[in-house]
Amino acid sequence: MARHGVPTAQSATFADATAAKNFAASLGGRCAVKADGLALGKGVLLCASVAEANRAIDEILVAKSFGMAGAKIVIQELLDGMEISLHALCDGKTAKLFPTAQDHKQALDGDHGLNTGGMGAYSPAPFLSEAELKRVGEEILTPWLRGCASESIDFRGILYPGVMLTKAGPKVLEFNARFGDPETQVFLTRLENDLVELLVASVDGTLDQIELKWSPLVSVCVVLASGGYPGNYAKGKPISGLEAAAELPNTKVFHAGTTRADEAVVTNGGRVLGVTAWAADLRAARALAYAAVEKIQFDGAHFRRDIGAKAL
Ligand code: GLY
Repeated sequence: MARHGVPTAQSATFADATAAKNFAASLGGRCAVKADGLALGKGVLLCASVAEANRAIDEILVAKSFGMAGAKIVIQELLDGMEISLHALCDGKTAKLFPTAQDHKQALDGDHGLNTGGMGAYSPAPFLSEAELKRVGEEILTPWLRGCASESIDFRGILYPGVMLTKAGPKVLEFNARFGDPETQVFLTRLENDLVELLVASVDGTLDQIELKWSPLVSVCVVLASGGYPGNYAKGKPISGLEAAAELPNTKVFHAGTTRADEAVVTNGGRVLGVTAWAADLRAARALAYAAVEKIQFDGAHFRRDIGAKAL
């Protein structure tokens, strides 16, 4: 479907398992089965055959393994290509594209394991030149803005399309109306504008008067997750090494799933910390980020060791 001319992956929404299975079969079973409601980025099962698709539909729609987020499901064709995260700040008329970033959705190295909210990201992702990024942005954002206008949608804020770069051109997998996590950690450590001024311009409708400025440095974020995530995990594990990590140069540790227990900082979620570092190139940024990761410890901590490796 290409509503308003926005290139999108073929997909449909279902509340009925038989209809869903018929659609999945029409795609040869090669599809993503997604909980339609919010499931912390985890409600997606990737299927390579009709049998797998049927199992995934039964799991999410019938057995409600993601609770009522799976009251309806979206089935989407599986596309071959490189997935990137686009972000654009919008003010209703203007959409200002951010640089490229790439998330790592699966829990384990080599893109294995279950889908998560995101195990790490880096920016820029070198799969698109500046000119290609501009073209991809125009292919998606120009018709999207036109579509918003024709439907009287005054969208102000962050638009985050997940995009597959296929041989047939870019295809949108999903539109999120929020910042990506952990993409934000790598964007904000490269952003040279005052973020508040940008957000005010987005609300005021004056983004056309602002140029987004980005540092040329490469930023890498490695997510430290609780043992068991994206499945069940324990909370309340004391975290050590945060001060030592904070002393490293060009490094920032973003807290996601943490809380305080008396004087200690303890785990309080699946994705616990976004350990982020920046440097002149990807290799150096990765080395810094992983050096910071090594300083931090909590019982059961796990992280991917290959964030950004695809781009080396
Ligand atoms: N990076 C994945 C998400 O924010 O949904």
